[in-house]
Amino acid sequence: MAVTNSQSGTNVHEISEGIYRISTPVAFEGGAKFSFNQYLIADDEPLLFHTGPRKLFPLVREAVASVLPVERLSYIGFSHVEADECGSLNEWLAAAPQSMPLCGTVAAMVSIGDLADRSPRALADGEVLSLGKHRVRWFDTPHLPHGWDCGLLTEEQTRTFLCGDLFTQGGSALPPVTESDILGPSEDFRHRMDYFSYTKNTRAILERLAATEPATLACMHGSAWRGDGATLLRALADSLTS
Ligand SMILES: [Fe+2]
Ligand SMILES: [Fe+2]
Repeated sequence: MAVTNSQSGTNVHEISEGIYRISTPVAFEGGAKFSFNQYLIADDEPLLFHTGPRKLFPLVREAVASVLPVERLSYIGFSHVEADECGSLNEWLAAAPQSMPLCGTVAAMVSIGDLADRSPRALADGEVLSLGKHRVRWFDTPHLPHGWDCGLLTEEQTRTFLCGDLFTQGGSALPPVTESDILGPSEDFRHRMDYFSYTKNTRAILERLAATEPATLACMHGSAWRGDGATLLRALADSLTS
């Protein structure tokens, strides 16, 4: 793990071949601790998944620059419209003049066609995008965990699931990658922060994601995780629907 900003503690760690987790620990008023992660897929056409909140842009930019020149970025992707997902989208579009927003068709139609300084590349459900060695597939996951526009990406070469807000863990002093249980801590966080919408399609969507058999889960908040992703996703479905 490389610390790219000693003041904030922003750090970079390669969690799968060519996939880097950028993480910044934060402390909120009142003392609650949290982390914001972004994932950089370094390839012929590099993809940054989640921009981080707008106020963290200088830190995330510095971290991306430790892996590759920021102007090389091709895609600025995210799961759904929220500040930590795409708050600095326009800053990134300016920093990487060849880049374009990457999102699902609902986000493109409802928000990004208007909010973003350049038109998005909207991925349809199940559509694959080649970045070079890596291939990402978009899954529409409406309302899972939240947002009509919500969707997630799997990277097929490394079987890395960019799982966004799923398995969100509180706290900030967490390892970049863990093989320990994250379902318990993330369910504990969900019970305190109730951020799921509990769609009737919850189990079917999670089963579809489990069928991709991910080996690494790239969580947006907390540690990334290594293990039998299919089993963990089915355990989450059990917990959400019990
Ligand atoms: Fe979210
Ligand atoms: Fe988030």
